[in-house]
Amino acid sequence: MTSTNLSPIRVGLLGIGTVGTGTFNVLKRNQEEIRRRAGRSIEITMVADLDVARAKAAVGEGVQVVDDARKVIANPDIDVVIELIGGYGIARALVLEAIEAGKHVVTANKALLAVHGTEIFAAAQRKGVMVAFEAAVAGGIPIIKALREGLSANSIQWIAGIINGTTNFILSEMRDKGLDFDVVLKEAQRLGYAEADPTFDIEGVDAGHKVTLMSAIAFGIPVQFDKAYVEGITALAAQDIRYAEQLGYRIKLLGITKRVANGIELRVHPSLVPAKRLIANVEGAMNAVVVQGDAVGTTLYYGKGAGSEPTASAVIADLVDIARLHTADPEHRVPHLAFQPDAMSDLPIVPMSEVVTSYYLRLNVADEAGVLAKVTGILASMGISIDAVLQREADEVGGEGATQTDLIILTHDCVEARMNEALAQMQSLPTVLAPITRIRKEELA
Ligand code: HSE
Repeated sequence: MTSTNLSPIRVGLLGIGTVGTGTFNVLKRNQEEIRRRAGRSIEITMVADLDVARAKAAVGEGVQVVDDARKVIANPDIDVVIELIGGYGIARALVLEAIEAGKHVVTANKALLAVHGTEIFAAAQRKGVMVAFEAAVAGGIPIIKALREGLSANSIQWIAGIINGTTNFILSEMRDKGLDFDVVLKEAQRLGYAEADPTFDIEGVDAGHKVTLMSAIAFGIPVQFDKAYVEGITALAAQDIRYAEQLGYRIKLLGITKRVANGIELRVHPSLVPAKRLIANVEGAMNAVVVQGDAVGTTLYYGKGAGSEPTASAVIADLVDIARLHTADPEHRVPHLAFQPDAMSDLPIVPMSEVVTSYYLRLNVADEAGVLAKVTGILASMGISIDAVLQREADEVGGEGATQTDLIILTHDCVEARMNEALAQMQSLPTVLAPITRIRKEELA
């Protein structure tokens, strides 16, 4: 008997929306090739969804559809549960119950794992089951596989990713059309690119969940979203994107995690990135992740970070892994977080105030003698070195006869706490007329 004659892996799907439907369709369309890879066929035999009619329409005859996820978990014929419900609430309970019932779990739920991952992976470890989550980070890009397996020779130094398509789409539109954030967000919602409630995307939370997972796998630390610094794109103005461009930079929402002397940096915020970097040229809803390893050097992963079949591609890759490995001794499987559970590190997450980076500052100032000297004097007194200064003609900023202007400063690296102090001092100058804009800058060299 060849391995491809083994009995099928039977899968129960919880939630059949966009990704669930894509998973069902791709599994069906490519079933023969998937069977040849996995060594056995993979079949979705049961689906739970509150909208039973929609679920039945998606899967047709031959698949049992129920409105209660617990019926899937209780079914002894189901080997693997795919959780595509999302959120931290019922999804957490169902994933833990599925593990307790001895099922392997595949999930695209980054929020759940970034917040409750430690509990979930420990439960899976105890029960000897796999919890696979390729689809949780950067959709169709196999970044979990790359970090956990492909780069396992390396001491990873840093990761920087565009890991939220909604915000990258908004930033691309702001740059292309010179529009402000609010205008582009409304348009993105009208076109269906942004959710009706886009809070998690635009406030950086979704990217924070994803970088938290990458950080844990890269450095062998527990998932700890609560310690991540998260700042979204809602305060970005069209003129900052324009000024950045004039200085040779693009603004991207980056998820960054970095090994430094005092621990691990874990942060999401808008960042100026040199326009010549490949990642600076990732446009629209696409995702990209740069990983720097000591042996491999710089590697870049690019693709669709969301959508029905791109995300299904990742879900099914996890199903294939489970089909190949579920009979293996749990000790000999790939650890959930890349490092053996008893070999995890307790490196601390560095508080944002201790992070060292460089900055873009925009000050709206009175166009009069001595203003530049006062501002640069404060930076000098704080030991912050200036890299470049751009001052626009007042009438270019405020129209003919304007008496105020924009002063743009790029700094060299300094510690965030020191920059915060300098910002407070500059802000208190009577000639600084509006709240100062500060955007961090990453050279990604
Ligand atoms: N909302 C996410 C994005 C996709 O815009 O990239 C799912 O994580």
